[in-house]
Amino acid sequence: MSPKSKVQSPKLPFIFVNMAMTADGKIATANRAVHSFGSARDLAHLYELRATADAVMCGARTVEVTGTILGTGGEKFRKLRRKHGLAEYNLRVIVSGSGSINPAAEIFKKRFSPIIVLTTKRAPAKKLAQLRTVADEVKICGADKINFRAAFRWLRTKWNVRRLLCEGGGELNDALFRAGLVDEIHLTICPKIFGDRTAPTVADGPGFQRLADAARFELTSKKRQKGELFTVFSRRK
Ligand SMILES: NC(=O)c1ccc[n+]([C@@H]2O[C@H](COP(=O)([O-])OP(=O)(O)OC[C@H]3O[C@@H](n4cnc5c(N)ncnc54)[C@H](OP(=O)(O)O)[C@@H]3O)[C@@H](O)[C@H]2O)c1
Repeated sequence: MSPKSKVQSPKLPFIFVNMAMTADGKIATANRAVHSFGSARDLAHLYELRATADAVMCGARTVEVTGTILGTGGEKFRKLRRKHGLAEYNLRVIVSGSGSINPAAEIFKKRFSPIIVLTTKRAPAKKLAQLRTVADEVKICGADKINFRAAFRWLRTKWNVRRLLCEGGGELNDALFRAGLVDEIHLTICPKIFGDRTAPTVADGPGFQRLADAARFELTSKKRQKGELFTVFSRRK
């Protein structure tokens, strides 16, 4: 095959993760009761980042536990979106490999922008039918495991997602790190300690077993604001 006749895969979106973390590396308390612990500045930062993204994505447990609707944060941030040349509202993406996401979750009650559920063939037919009544699209992205690379290419091709913001939780982040898909991490370090080895962290999955395999980033920005440290890590080429 000549180089010219090679079929090009569709491009991936730029994928960035935003998380708030305690000084001991936790993203919630062990009992999951505390999930919001950053300052008002950190919340504004979250909306500012959403205002640069075509789509915002979360894992099923984050959607349920936090009650997030993955909204824009109001007119001030929608104005910012328009300034960035983006649609007024971001798309909303939920990852639920077994289709266990609760169809009564708060997010499905707010109809301001399309909701896409990424799932697998593991999801029972009854569950899929139920989710199709509350989501705008339910996309099967693999037999047993989600093929995130293919899913994100599809998001780009079908929904024109060029910038995809992932807001956790730890299980979803871990899968993205392992797939080598994270371009940038925005990490707010908050001056609190939650402790407990079972409390969730930024990447809570099988992870990497060897230093040589670890996902590698470099610190590209740090800003101290009041008591918090706002950091940005970019993927090492
Ligand atoms: N501090 C922060 O910035 C922040 C941000 C977000 C969340 N949080 C906290 O994080 C906690 C939730 O995190 P979590 O790790 O338990 O859950 P999560 O990643 O939000 O959701 C886990 C669920 O998402 C689906 N999922 C995730 N990765 C998948 C993969 N690779 N393939 C298929 N499905 C996948 C699965 O759904 P199915 O079960 O349907 O297969 C899985 O059970 C909450 O306590 C929340 O408060 C904190």
